[in-house]
Amino acid sequence: MLYVYLNGETIAREQARVSVLDRGFIFGDAVYEVIPVYDGLPFLWDEHMRRLERSIAAIGLCNPYPANQWLGIVQRLIARNGGGDQSVYIQVTRGVAEREHALSEPIEPTVLVMSRPLIAHAAEPVAAVTDTDTRWQMCDVKATALLANVLLRQRAAARGAYEAILVRDGFVTEGAASNVFVVNDGLVRTPPCSHRILPGVTRALVLELLRTHAVPCVEQEIAAPDLQRADEIWLTSSTREILPVATLDGQAVGPVCPGSLWTRVVALYAGYKAQCSGAVARDAARGTAGSGSA
Ligand code: PDD
Repeated sequence: MLYVYLNGETIAREQARVSVLDRGFIFGDAVYEVIPVYDGLPFLWDEHMRRLERSIAAIGLCNPYPANQWLGIVQRLIARNGGGDQSVYIQVTRGVAEREHALSEPIEPTVLVMSRPLIAHAAEPVAAVTDTDTRWQMCDVKATALLANVLLRQRAAARGAYEAILVRDGFVTEGAASNVFVVNDGLVRTPPCSHRILPGVTRALVLELLRTHAVPCVEQEIAAPDLQRADEIWLTSSTREILPVATLDGQAVGPVCPGSLWTRVVALYAGYKAQCSGAVARDAARGTAGSGSA
């Protein structure tokens, strides 16, 4: 049985209830985070907390808890749900009120934290398709209003693909639930942070690892036709890490998939994860356990 944290209580997931007037339910008036957990420890916790804080502020809410209280709630839930590898989902909605678009005064937010076992997927090459980015203009906010993303992923699935790579005004933005990296002639490119993309935590770590290890990379707009000419395309996200794209719109990507730079970056990523768990193990031995950010 899995437990969830809902507004101060930890209860069985089946028993958890929110009001039909919750603005998360009625309007999608809410933000969220997804955090991977390895061996009981949230990975890149500080980065996820910073983004949650930013999303909460972007929709005009006050963060209901300080960072250390969030960490306590999440750590207790991870333990209650059996430790190991999990995926933690945090959602903060504006709260429960009579259905009016604009509220005259602030209300108590609804806070939900869930976790479930992290499904271990092999990093096998996936199929992707291109599609028009039909989302709103605030894609940098991790909002739960994901109808466009859901429809785009669904359309991709109907075309036999795992992900839709989105194009807006002729330029690549991101995947429906991932960031996109494109490799041409040894240069790794990813679109720069803007309101058009989510500033992915995995994206930032991949860029940092590439820079640290002197792999040529730039944050740069990518014209849609460059996708067809790519040697490699990668999709990054917290729960699926770095996936190589084998086919785009039914055509093979590059001469070989996975490509050599993907193999390199995946090794760097795995090394970083091992370094984090080593650092936490050392902290634990000293009695100063951290949360998985090296
Ligand atoms: N989604 N872009 C979008 C639109 C996303 O939904 C996600 C992740 C990412 C990757 O971000 P990160 O590396 O921080 O996970 C980029 C999560 C996993 C989800 O909605 O389930």
